[in-house]
Amino acid sequence: MFPKAALVASVTLALLGSANPVERGTGSSIPFAKRSGLTTEDGVFDHQRAIINTIQTHNKHRRNLLNLQANDAESMSEGAEIKPPRTYDTLDKRQKESTTDEGDDLEWAGTISIGTPAQSFLIDFDTGSADLWVPSTNCTQSACRSKHKYNAANSSTSAMQSGTFSIQYGDGSTSSGPIFTDTVSVAGIKSTGQYLSAVTSLSSSFATDPIDGLLGMAYQKISVLGRPPFVNQAKSEGSIQSAVFGMKLAHKGSELYIGGTDTSLYKGSVEYHTVTGSGFWQISGASALVNNKTTNTGFQTVIDSGTTIMYGPPSAVQSFYASVPGSSVFDSQNGFYQFPCNSVPQVAFSWGGRSWNVSAANFNLGKTSSTSQYCVGALAGQDLGLGSNVWLLGDSYMKNVYSVFSFDQNSVGFATLS
Ligand SMILES: *[C@@H]1O[C@H](CO)[C@@H](O)[C@H](O)[C@H]1NC(C)=O
Ligand SMILES: *[C@@H]1O[C@H](CO)[C@@H](O)[C@H](O)[C@H]1NC(C)=O
Ligand SMILES: *[C@@H]1O[C@H](CO)[C@@H](O)[C@H](O)[C@H]1NC(C)=O
Ligand SMILES: *[C@@H]1O[C@H](CO)[C@@H](O)[C@H](O)[C@H]1NC(C)=O
Repeated sequence: MFPKAALVASVTLALLGSANPVERGTGSSIPFAKRSGLTTEDGVFDHQRAIINTIQTHNKHRRNLLNLQANDAESMSEGAEIKPPRTYDTLDKRQKESTTDEGDDLEWAGTISIGTPAQSFLIDFDTGSADLWVPSTNCTQSACRSKHKYNAANSSTSAMQSGTFSIQYGDGSTSSGPIFTDTVSVAGIKSTGQYLSAVTSLSSSFATDPIDGLLGMAYQKISVLGRPPFVNQAKSEGSIQSAVFGMKLAHKGSELYIGGTDTSLYKGSVEYHTVTGSGFWQISGASALVNNKTTNTGFQTVIDSGTTIMYGPPSAVQSFYASVPGSSVFDSQNGFYQFPCNSVPQVAFSWGGRSWNVSAANFNLGKTSSTSQYCVGALAGQDLGLGSNVWLLGDSYMKNVYSVFSFDQNSVGFATLS
């Protein structure tokens, strides 16, 4: 059903040889793929899909906050609050998905291998969570049917660990299963004692999704397993010199680079900002600009490759759109705004250094209907519970820059794509 072959990216080992431990040379790259997000082929905003996406984002970060509360409650942002989970109707989702391009996935996916000999999986690399899970060979549910499944008995390096992994999704279903350690290889970089879960129960929300599982790349503090995520584990085992990774997210040429940054993908220097220590890739001192005018200042931002659009607290987002000529609320319940399609605002973010533009193509999610002259913006007002002054910047922002995530320096950096 899915054009899966097109999505399965091969792992390539990058050139070796640079002396700088944070630059290309010590790490490895993995190309990965993504098709667009919330706009249909005829340029219309996919409202229903956007709502489901928003609910999934809400629930993902709710789970992160629960883990953070359990692991290090002190480091929660001011005003952070664990909201009730939100749900959506699975039937609606299925009907909707059967009418849209099923290959139009929302994740950035690439292949990794687990076990000895290697078993391959198509994985979503998510900077907004911190666990690795894949379907288990013991999963008999229909959602697992089309997936690659982890077979522990076939791996000489697999060891079952105590405990159970469990996460709930917005459609009311749960993904859960036992915990293992095994050798995991991403872009040729190995972590031999990597904690992961092989889920025997897979949320139905993944049934029509081309990915097999997810590899979380945020801090251990928000991990369900409470174990080092892949990059940290690989560093502690000496497989990489730097616990640093770089991401380029684009329609073509997307790449995750582990162990440093891929200097061939950006020009100029990387502008770094210190993370707050909340467990997320969260940086402070942000401003938003609309048509060169500053609309919001002094807020925090979480940089999340697993979120499609951008979200801010409802009142902050209202102030933002007050500076967008001709804009108005499109969906008050879900915080979406519309603006005249013939004047997409020039949107940018700054953390006190350069201004990082969000292109018109990345800000515009499409027309509100096929005959409409209004388009929906990729910034929505939502209280996700992350904190009273915290915005979430997903792919709509990340597609405009080269992003660098450094556990070593506890910083997030941005550079201009070359
Ligand atoms: C599946 O079940 C078998 C038998 O209970 C068990 O040995 C194995 O560890 C389970 N999990 C996986 C991922 O194979
Ligand atoms: C796992 O082992 C079984 C039995 O030896 C074999 O038939 C199967 O092909 C193996 N699967 C993988 C993924 O290696
Ligand atoms: C924003 O400023 C740039 C140069 O500083 C200019 O080219 C552009 O037209 C300005 N945009 C608006 C909407 O004023
Ligand atoms: C950002 O957008 C403004 C306004 O369109 C433009 O003047 C400026 O050159 C852009 N900056 C970069 C780095 O592309």
